[in-house]
Amino acid sequence: MSNAQQAVTKAVIPAAGLGTRFLPATKATPKEMLPVVDKPAIQYVVEEAVAAGLSDVLMITGRNKRPLEDHFDRNYELESALVAKGDDDRLKKVQESSDLATMHYVRQGDPRGLGHAVLCAAPHVGDQPFAVLLGDDLIDPRDPLLAKMVEVQHRTGGSVIALMEVEPAQIHLYGCAAVEATEDEDVVHITGLVEKPEPSEAPSNYAIIGRYVLNPAVFDVLRETEPGRGGEIQLTDALQQLAADETVGGPVHGVVFKGRRYDTGDRGDYLKAIVRLASEREDLGPEFRAWLRGYVTEELHEGAGE
Ligand code: UTP
Repeated sequence: MSNAQQAVTKAVIPAAGLGTRFLPATKATPKEMLPVVDKPAIQYVVEEAVAAGLSDVLMITGRNKRPLEDHFDRNYELESALVAKGDDDRLKKVQESSDLATMHYVRQGDPRGLGHAVLCAAPHVGDQPFAVLLGDDLIDPRDPLLAKMVEVQHRTGGSVIALMEVEPAQIHLYGCAAVEATEDEDVVHITGLVEKPEPSEAPSNYAIIGRYVLNPAVFDVLRETEPGRGGEIQLTDALQQLAADETVGGPVHGVVFKGRRYDTGDRGDYLKAIVRLASEREDLGPEFRAWLRGYVTEELHEGAGE
Protein backbone atom coordinates (compact mmCIF):
# COMPACT_ATOMS: atom_id res chain seq x y z
CA MET A 1 0.00 0.00 0.00
CA SER A 2 1.77 3.15 -1.21
CA ASN A 3 0.25 5.61 1.23
CA ALA A 4 1.07 3.44 4.25
CA GLN A 5 4.54 4.87 4.66
CA GLN A 6 3.46 8.51 4.34
CA ALA A 7 3.78 10.53 7.51
CA VAL A 8 0.61 11.90 9.08
CA THR A 9 0.82 15.70 8.95
CA LYS A 10 -2.80 16.85 8.78
CA ALA A 11 -5.45 17.02 11.48
CA VAL A 12 -9.14 17.39 10.72
CA ILE A 13 -11.38 18.76 13.46
CA PRO A 14 -15.13 18.42 12.85
CA ALA A 15 -16.93 21.23 14.69
CA ALA A 16 -20.13 21.65 12.71
CA GLY A 17 -22.57 19.80 14.94
CA LEU A 18 -25.64 21.57 16.30
CA GLY A 19 -24.72 21.12 19.97
CA THR A 20 -28.35 20.65 20.98
CA ARG A 21 -27.42 19.10 24.35
CA PHE A 22 -26.03 22.44 25.43
CA LEU A 23 -28.85 24.76 24.42
CA PRO A 24 -29.42 27.63 24.95
CA ALA A 25 -25.66 28.33 25.38
CA THR A 26 -25.06 27.01 21.86
CA LYS A 27 -27.82 28.96 20.15
CA ALA A 28 -25.40 31.52 18.70
CA THR A 29 -22.03 30.11 19.81
CA PRO A 30 -20.45 26.80 18.79
CA LYS A 31 -20.15 24.41 21.75
CA GLU A 32 -16.45 24.12 20.97
CA MET A 33 -16.03 27.76 22.03
CA LEU A 34 -17.36 27.20 25.56
CA PRO A 35 -14.52 27.95 28.00
CA VAL A 36 -12.84 25.18 29.96
CA VAL A 37 -11.34 27.32 32.74
CA ASP A 38 -9.97 30.16 30.58
CA LYS A 39 -9.49 28.59 27.15
CA PRO A 40 -12.20 27.49 24.72
CA ALA A 41 -12.51 23.70 24.53
CA ILE A 42 -11.38 23.73 20.89
CA GLN A 43 -8.00 25.25 21.77
CA TYR A 44 -7.11 22.19 23.87
CA VAL A 45 -7.94 20.03 20.85
CA VAL A 46 -5.75 22.05 18.47
CA GLU A 47 -2.95 22.02 21.06
CA GLU A 48 -3.25 18.24 21.25
CA ALA A 49 -2.87 17.91 17.47
CA VAL A 50 0.18 20.18 17.49
CA ALA A 51 1.72 18.26 20.41
CA ALA A 52 1.47 15.08 18.28
CA GLY A 53 3.30 16.83 15.43
CA LEU A 54 0.26 17.79 13.34
CA SER A 55 0.37 21.53 12.75
CA ASP A 56 -1.75 21.61 9.57
CA VAL A 57 -5.28 21.79 10.94
CA LEU A 58 -8.50 21.76 8.93
CA MET A 59 -11.59 22.68 10.89
CA ILE A 60 -14.99 21.62 9.58
CA THR A 61 -17.34 24.40 10.58
CA GLY A 62 -21.00 25.13 10.11
CA ARG A 63 -23.26 27.98 11.03
CA ASN A 64 -21.74 30.20 13.75
CA LYS A 65 -18.23 29.59 12.40
CA ARG A 66 -17.03 33.16 13.00
CA PRO A 67 -15.99 32.77 16.67
CA LEU A 68 -13.91 29.68 15.78
CA GLU A 69 -12.05 31.44 12.97
CA ASP A 70 -11.57 34.61 15.00
CA HIS A 71 -10.15 32.72 17.95
CA PHE A 72 -7.29 31.30 15.89
CA ASP A 73 -6.67 34.57 14.04
CA ARG A 74 -4.75 37.69 15.13
CA ASN A 75 -6.66 40.35 17.05
CA TYR A 76 -4.58 43.46 16.40
CA GLU A 77 -6.84 45.83 18.33
CA LEU A 78 -6.63 43.76 21.50
CA GLU A 79 -2.92 43.14 21.02
CA SER A 80 -2.11 46.86 20.70
CA ALA A 81 -4.23 47.66 23.75
CA LEU A 82 -2.25 45.10 25.77
CA VAL A 83 1.07 46.38 24.36
CA ALA A 84 0.09 49.93 25.40
CA LYS A 85 -0.66 48.67 28.91
CA GLY A 86 2.59 46.70 29.03
CA ASP A 87 0.57 43.56 29.88
CA ASP A 88 2.96 40.97 28.42
CA ASP A 89 1.38 37.97 30.11
CA ARG A 90 -2.04 38.55 28.62
CA LEU A 91 -0.51 39.52 25.27
CA LYS A 92 1.19 36.13 25.19
CA LYS A 93 -2.13 34.41 25.92
CA VAL A 94 -3.85 36.29 23.10
CA GLN A 95 -1.10 35.46 20.61
CA GLU A 96 -0.80 31.80 21.63
CA SER A 97 -3.90 30.65 19.77
CA SER A 98 -3.05 32.48 16.52
CA ASP A 99 0.55 31.19 16.51
CA LEU A 100 -0.39 27.60 17.28
CA ALA A 101 -0.97 25.96 13.89
CA THR A 102 -1.65 26.59 10.21
CA MET A 103 -5.42 26.77 10.25
CA HIS A 104 -7.76 25.98 7.35
CA TYR A 105 -11.54 26.00 7.34
CA VAL A 106 -14.21 24.34 5.26
CA ARG A 107 -17.91 24.68 5.74
CA GLN A 108 -20.11 21.61 5.99
CA GLY A 109 -23.35 23.35 5.02
CA ASP A 110 -25.95 20.94 6.30
CA PRO A 111 -24.84 18.92 9.35
CA ARG A 112 -25.49 15.53 7.75
CA GLY A 113 -23.45 13.58 10.26
CA LEU A 114 -19.86 13.03 11.35
CA GLY A 115 -19.08 10.86 8.31
CA HIS A 116 -20.26 13.64 6.02
CA ALA A 117 -18.18 16.18 7.98
CA VAL A 118 -15.05 14.03 7.50
CA LEU A 119 -15.79 13.68 3.78
CA CYS A 120 -15.71 17.49 3.49
CA ALA A 121 -11.96 17.20 4.30
CA ALA A 122 -11.16 15.04 1.24
CA PRO A 123 -9.93 17.82 -1.10
CA HIS A 124 -7.61 19.22 1.58
CA VAL A 125 -6.27 15.87 2.80
CA GLY A 126 -5.68 14.21 -0.57
CA ASP A 127 -4.14 10.74 -0.63
CA GLN A 128 -2.42 10.69 2.77
CA PRO A 129 -3.32 9.21 6.13
CA PHE A 130 -4.76 11.89 8.43
CA ALA A 131 -5.99 12.40 11.97
CA VAL A 132 -9.52 13.30 13.05
CA LEU A 133 -10.06 14.92 16.45
CA LEU A 134 -13.61 15.67 17.52
CA GLY A 135 -13.83 19.28 18.61
CA ASP A 136 -15.99 18.55 21.64
CA ASP A 137 -13.88 15.67 22.97
CA LEU A 138 -11.19 16.84 25.37
CA ILE A 139 -8.31 14.49 26.15
CA ASP A 140 -6.48 15.63 29.26
CA PRO A 141 -3.18 17.14 28.06
CA ARG A 142 -1.35 15.03 30.66
CA ASP A 143 -2.52 11.76 29.08
CA PRO A 144 -1.23 11.81 25.48
CA LEU A 145 -2.94 9.42 23.05
CA LEU A 146 -2.61 10.71 19.50
CA ALA A 147 1.13 10.15 19.06
CA LYS A 148 0.66 6.44 19.84
CA MET A 149 -2.20 6.24 17.32
CA VAL A 150 -0.03 7.89 14.64
CA GLU A 151 2.73 5.38 15.37
CA VAL A 152 0.31 2.39 15.04
CA GLN A 153 -1.08 3.80 11.76
CA HIS A 154 2.45 4.18 10.40
CA ARG A 155 3.29 0.60 11.39
CA THR A 156 0.12 -1.01 10.01
CA GLY A 157 -0.74 1.29 7.09
CA GLY A 158 -4.45 0.97 7.91
CA SER A 159 -6.71 2.99 10.17
CA VAL A 160 -6.62 3.45 13.93
CA ILE A 161 -9.40 4.45 16.31
CA ALA A 162 -9.31 5.34 20.01
CA LEU A 163 -11.23 3.11 22.42
CA MET A 164 -12.16 3.44 26.06
CA GLU A 165 -13.71 0.83 28.34
CA VAL A 166 -17.10 1.95 29.64
CA GLU A 167 -19.75 0.44 31.92
CA PRO A 168 -21.99 -1.93 29.87
CA ALA A 169 -24.99 0.29 30.69
CA GLN A 170 -23.24 3.23 28.97
CA ILE A 171 -22.33 1.52 25.70
CA HIS A 172 -25.54 2.59 23.93
CA LEU A 173 -24.18 6.15 23.97
CA TYR A 174 -21.14 5.26 21.83
CA GLY A 175 -19.91 3.40 18.80
CA CYS A 176 -18.77 -0.03 19.97
CA ALA A 177 -15.95 -2.30 18.72
CA ALA A 178 -15.58 -6.08 18.43
CA VAL A 179 -11.90 -6.72 19.10
CA GLU A 180 -9.07 -9.27 19.12
CA ALA A 181 -5.95 -8.90 21.26
CA THR A 182 -2.57 -8.13 19.67
CA GLU A 183 0.98 -8.47 21.02
CA ASP A 184 0.76 -4.89 22.30
CA GLU A 185 -1.61 -4.86 25.29
CA ASP A 186 -2.76 -1.30 24.48
CA VAL A 187 -3.59 -2.15 20.85
CA VAL A 188 -6.45 -4.35 19.61
CA HIS A 189 -7.41 -5.54 16.15
CA ILE A 190 -10.93 -4.39 15.23
CA THR A 191 -13.11 -7.06 13.65
CA GLY A 192 -16.37 -5.10 13.62
CA LEU A 193 -18.03 -1.87 14.70
CA VAL A 194 -21.58 -0.97 15.61
CA GLU A 195 -22.98 2.51 16.31
CA LYS A 196 -24.77 2.96 19.67
CA PRO A 197 -25.84 -0.69 20.29
CA GLU A 198 -28.25 -1.86 22.97
CA PRO A 199 -26.20 -3.41 25.82
CA SER A 200 -27.52 -6.89 24.91
CA GLU A 201 -26.21 -6.50 21.34
CA ALA A 202 -22.89 -4.84 22.15
CA PRO A 203 -19.90 -6.99 21.10
CA SER A 204 -17.74 -5.54 23.93
CA ASN A 205 -17.59 -2.63 26.34
CA TYR A 206 -14.98 -0.85 24.21
CA ALA A 207 -16.44 2.52 23.23
CA ILE A 208 -15.12 4.60 20.34
CA ILE A 209 -13.94 8.03 21.50
CA GLY A 210 -13.23 11.05 19.34
CA ARG A 211 -9.75 10.39 17.96
CA TYR A 212 -8.99 8.63 14.68
CA VAL A 213 -6.00 8.23 12.36
CA LEU A 214 -7.41 7.13 9.04
CA ASN A 215 -6.25 5.67 5.76
CA PRO A 216 -7.53 7.95 2.95
CA ALA A 217 -9.47 4.97 1.52
CA VAL A 218 -12.14 6.01 4.02
CA PHE A 219 -13.16 8.86 1.67
CA ASP A 220 -14.24 6.48 -1.11
CA VAL A 221 -16.15 4.42 1.42
CA LEU A 222 -17.86 7.52 2.84
CA ARG A 223 -18.97 8.58 -0.65
CA GLU A 224 -20.94 5.32 -0.82
CA THR A 225 -22.16 5.29 2.79
CA GLU A 226 -25.91 5.68 3.11
CA PRO A 227 -27.38 7.65 6.01
CA GLY A 228 -27.56 5.34 9.03
CA ARG A 229 -28.66 5.83 12.61
CA GLY A 230 -30.51 9.11 13.11
CA GLY A 231 -30.57 9.71 9.33
CA GLU A 232 -26.91 10.81 9.53
CA ILE A 233 -23.91 9.60 7.52
CA GLN A 234 -22.02 7.78 10.26
CA LEU A 235 -18.23 7.57 10.35
CA THR A 236 -18.62 4.32 12.32
CA ASP A 237 -20.50 2.75 9.39
CA ALA A 238 -17.63 3.60 7.00
CA LEU A 239 -15.05 2.24 9.45
CA GLN A 240 -17.11 -0.94 9.78
CA GLN A 241 -16.76 -1.37 5.99
CA LEU A 242 -12.98 -0.94 6.25
CA ALA A 243 -12.83 -3.47 9.10
CA ALA A 244 -14.98 -5.95 7.13
CA ASP A 245 -12.73 -5.84 4.04
CA GLU A 246 -9.10 -5.15 4.85
CA THR A 247 -8.14 -5.08 1.17
CA VAL A 248 -9.83 -1.66 0.85
CA GLY A 249 -7.78 0.44 3.27
CA GLY A 250 -5.73 -1.95 5.38
CA PRO A 251 -6.59 -3.27 8.83
CA VAL A 252 -8.38 -1.28 11.53
CA HIS A 253 -6.80 -1.19 14.97
CA GLY A 254 -7.85 0.37 18.26
CA VAL A 255 -5.60 2.03 20.82
CA VAL A 256 -7.10 1.59 24.28
CA PHE A 257 -7.07 4.87 26.19
CA LYS A 258 -6.93 4.71 29.98
CA GLY A 259 -6.46 8.41 30.72
CA ARG A 260 -8.79 11.30 31.47
CA ARG A 261 -11.24 12.39 28.80
CA TYR A 262 -14.24 14.72 28.84
CA ASP A 263 -17.13 15.14 26.44
CA THR A 264 -17.43 18.91 26.61
CA GLY A 265 -20.68 18.76 24.62
CA ASP A 266 -22.30 17.05 27.64
CA ARG A 267 -23.15 19.41 30.50
CA GLY A 268 -22.16 17.06 33.32
CA ASP A 269 -18.83 16.10 31.74
CA TYR A 270 -18.16 19.76 30.92
CA LEU A 271 -18.53 20.69 34.60
CA LYS A 272 -16.20 17.84 35.62
CA ALA A 273 -13.59 19.01 33.11
CA ILE A 274 -13.62 22.51 34.54
CA VAL A 275 -13.41 21.40 38.19
CA ARG A 276 -10.62 18.93 37.48
CA LEU A 277 -8.49 21.14 35.25
CA ALA A 278 -8.99 24.24 37.43
CA SER A 279 -8.14 22.45 40.67
CA GLU A 280 -4.91 21.11 39.17
CA ARG A 281 -3.76 24.44 37.72
CA GLU A 282 -0.74 26.06 39.36
CA ASP A 283 -2.19 29.57 39.28
CA LEU A 284 -5.84 28.96 40.20
CA GLY A 285 -5.58 25.56 41.85
CA PRO A 286 -4.53 26.29 45.44
CA GLU A 287 -7.32 28.78 46.11
CA PHE A 288 -9.92 26.84 44.14
CA ARG A 289 -9.08 23.55 45.88
CA ALA A 290 -9.37 25.15 49.32
CA TRP A 291 -12.79 26.55 48.38
CA LEU A 292 -13.87 23.23 46.84
CA ARG A 293 -12.85 21.30 49.95
CA GLY A 294 -14.93 23.62 52.11
CA TYR A 295 -17.86 23.45 49.71
CA VAL A 296 -17.84 19.65 49.61
CA THR A 297 -17.50 19.14 53.36
CA GLU A 298 -19.87 21.88 54.52
CA GLU A 299 -22.44 22.46 51.80
CA LEU A 300 -22.75 19.02 50.27
CA HIS A 301 -22.56 17.04 53.52
CA GLU A 302 -25.12 19.27 55.18
CA GLY A 303 -27.27 19.07 52.04
CA ALA A 304 -27.11 15.24 52.12
CA GLY A 305 -28.20 15.19 55.78
CA GLU A 306 -31.25 17.38 55.24
P1 UTP B 1 -22.32 14.97 18.25
O1 UTP B 1 -22.82 13.60 18.15
O2 UTP B 1 -21.82 15.43 19.57
O3 UTP B 1 -23.49 15.93 17.72
O4 UTP B 1 -21.19 15.17 17.17
P2 UTP B 1 -23.73 17.47 17.87
O5 UTP B 1 -24.79 17.84 16.90
O6 UTP B 1 -22.44 18.24 17.73
O7 UTP B 1 -24.19 17.70 19.38
P3 UTP B 1 -25.61 17.37 20.10
O8 UTP B 1 -25.68 15.88 20.23
O9 UTP B 1 -26.70 17.97 19.24
O10 UTP B 1 -25.49 18.08 21.43
C1 UTP B 1 -19.90 14.61 17.34
C2 UTP B 1 -18.87 15.50 16.64
O11 UTP B 1 -19.12 15.54 15.25
C3 UTP B 1 -19.28 16.87 14.80
C4 UTP B 1 -19.66 17.66 16.03
O12 UTP B 1 -19.29 19.02 15.90
C5 UTP B 1 -18.88 16.94 17.11
O13 UTP B 1 -17.52 17.36 17.13
N1 UTP B 1 -20.31 16.87 13.74
C6 UTP B 1 -21.46 16.14 13.91
C7 UTP B 1 -20.10 17.59 12.59
O14 UTP B 1 -19.08 18.27 12.43
N2 UTP B 1 -21.06 17.55 11.63
C8 UTP B 1 -22.21 16.84 11.77
O15 UTP B 1 -23.03 16.82 10.83
C9 UTP B 1 -22.41 16.11 12.94
